[in-house]
Amino acid sequence: MSNICIIGCGNIGYSMAQGFVNSADFNNQSLSVTARKGKPLSNLQNLNVKVTNDNIYAIAGAEIVIIAVKPHDFNSVITEIAPHIQDKILVSVVAGLSIKQIKKDVPSSVQVFRAMPNTASKFGETITCLCSDSIDQPTFEKVEKLFRSIGRTIIIQEDLMDAATVLGACGVAFVMRFIRAMVQGGIQIGFSSEDAKTIVTQTVKGAAELLLEGGMHPEAEIDKVTTPKGCTIVGLNEMEHNGFSSALIKGIIESYKEINSGKVN
Ligand SMILES: NC(=O)c1ccc[n+]([C@@H]2O[C@H](COP(=O)([O-])OP(=O)(O)OC[C@H]3O[C@@H](n4cnc5c(N)ncnc54)[C@H](OP(=O)(O)O)[C@@H]3O)[C@@H](O)[C@H]2O)c1
Repeated sequence: MSNICIIGCGNIGYSMAQGFVNSADFNNQSLSVTARKGKPLSNLQNLNVKVTNDNIYAIAGAEIVIIAVKPHDFNSVITEIAPHIQDKILVSVVAGLSIKQIKKDVPSSVQVFRAMPNTASKFGETITCLCSDSIDQPTFEKVEKLFRSIGRTIIIQEDLMDAATVLGACGVAFVMRFIRAMVQGGIQIGFSSEDAKTIVTQTVKGAAELLLEGGMHPEAEIDKVTTPKGCTIVGLNEMEHNGFSSALIKGIIESYKEINSGKVN
């Protein structure tokens, strides 16, 4: 794996940093991370990660520089580091910022990638959607290998990057809300909050495995647990009468419209 620098060690930067250092591929590699106010990142320091608020110092020696700041902070970061990244690979995880927009501020020698991971990076369970206009296969493989160390990857066209942000990154919040509702239902039918959470989270994990490893369509797995006139189909149909699938789809579309409006900051 390459030497890496993450500029912006907030929610997603920190999750990726933890994922990288915990990954089996990470042996003897160097990772540096920066944050503006230098919030306590002692966990990372204990894992031999270089923690600093000096971006220029942090990128020295890094082959891959990942920018993980909020969109409104991107310009100041790129202006600061641009003169120092001629020979580096730049990966932006910033939502809504195109490769074209990024490239206008960096030397032409820099290969620019966009990546959209999620906060499950921390446990090596993210999905990262990747795109680039680079045609250099070894560089592509290097970047993909890096993100494969913290989960699964998909290479997509850039015009799907906003959709990837909604489905893969915002998606964590959608699933969390689903889990919370399941837990609340579980409490009402008799479980303690803790037991309900254990049952629901493992059920969600197991259901995901059925699709990831089993390769089936969700509806085929639903058929296996719905007996005619049984309790599962009664519950499912009641949820649908109340707009379950429709609410999810509408929410995804509204998130997508918001990201496309250019107001995301
Ligand atoms: N959160 C997610 O699940 C997720 C997933 C995929 C992509 N993204 C994208 O990732 C980016 C960051 O999101 P986030 O949720 O992680 O935000 P966040 O928690 O606010 O983290 C942003 C980090 O950037 C640091 N920062 C700001 N200006 C800096 C500078 N000039 N130099 C060095 N560090 C600087 C901040 O430091 P201070 O706190 O010290 O100001 C903070 O640590 C966004 O563009 C978002 O679109 C987020």
